[in-house]
Amino acid sequence: MPAISLSNLVFCYAKGDFVLSCPSLDFPHGELRLIMGANGSGKTTLSKLMCGILKPLQGDVRIFGKPSSALSLGQIGSDVGYLFQNPARQLFAGTVWREMVFVDELLGRDLEASAQRAQDLLERFGLGALKERSIYNLSGGEKQRLALCTLLMGGAQFLILDEPTVGLDRQNREILYTIIDDLLEEGRGLAVITHEKELISRYSNARKIKVERGQVLV
Ligand SMILES: Nc1ncnc2c1ncn2[C@@H]1O[C@H](COP(=O)(O)OP(=O)(O)OP(=O)(O)O)[C@@H](O)[C@H]1O
Ligand SMILES: [Mg+2]
Repeated sequence: MPAISLSNLVFCYAKGDFVLSCPSLDFPHGELRLIMGANGSGKTTLSKLMCGILKPLQGDVRIFGKPSSALSLGQIGSDVGYLFQNPARQLFAGTVWREMVFVDELLGRDLEASAQRAQDLLERFGLGALKERSIYNLSGGEKQRLALCTLLMGGAQFLILDEPTVGLDRQNREILYTIIDDLLEEGRGLAVITHEKELISRYSNARKIKVERGQVLV
């Protein structure tokens, strides 16, 4: 069973005339796929369909075998993590530490285990010294790494990264590539939307999916 499986999708927004269509397309566990295409071609729309933020008008999205229409965003989040094109949009809890632990607190999970995982992840992502820092006072690269950490806190086994290199300098891009390598090494699957030549050439073995004016070409 693939991590995410799309079949014969048609989607359009309530307003506007953009239509996205996608034939059958599977995203397997443990593999990297690159999603490429011009501005406005529909890459972000496709990725939001893949993680259930948007629901198709026709066709079927299956996430770890279950139709996305039957799953809440909370349920999906424990399998699939979505890193927004602007990761600042997904941070809101106040401090770095609060951002990491608030979901587990809300759900009444084992707080000791949660704190340990949060600590381990922050250290691994180079954010260990920033626990008490306000999320508004992080650099772009730090915000992105924190957003990734929160997705991993949720347990996501498959990650979708929407243009993750945009706005990162060379050093932060290198850190990101190392994170991608590590996630793959751990057996997680990834779909990365990008037109960054450096990333594409670094992962030249990854299968590429093109989106052209709303058509997903596989
Ligand atoms: N909420 C919305 N309502 C109506 N139309 C939208 C909405 N969001 C996006 N669109 C339109 O859908 C089309 C595809 O947008 P999308 O964001 O998926 O493109 P993209 O390939 O991710 O572009 P970029 O490379 O600039 O991020 C665009 O024409 C856009 O204007
Ligand atoms: Mg986009």
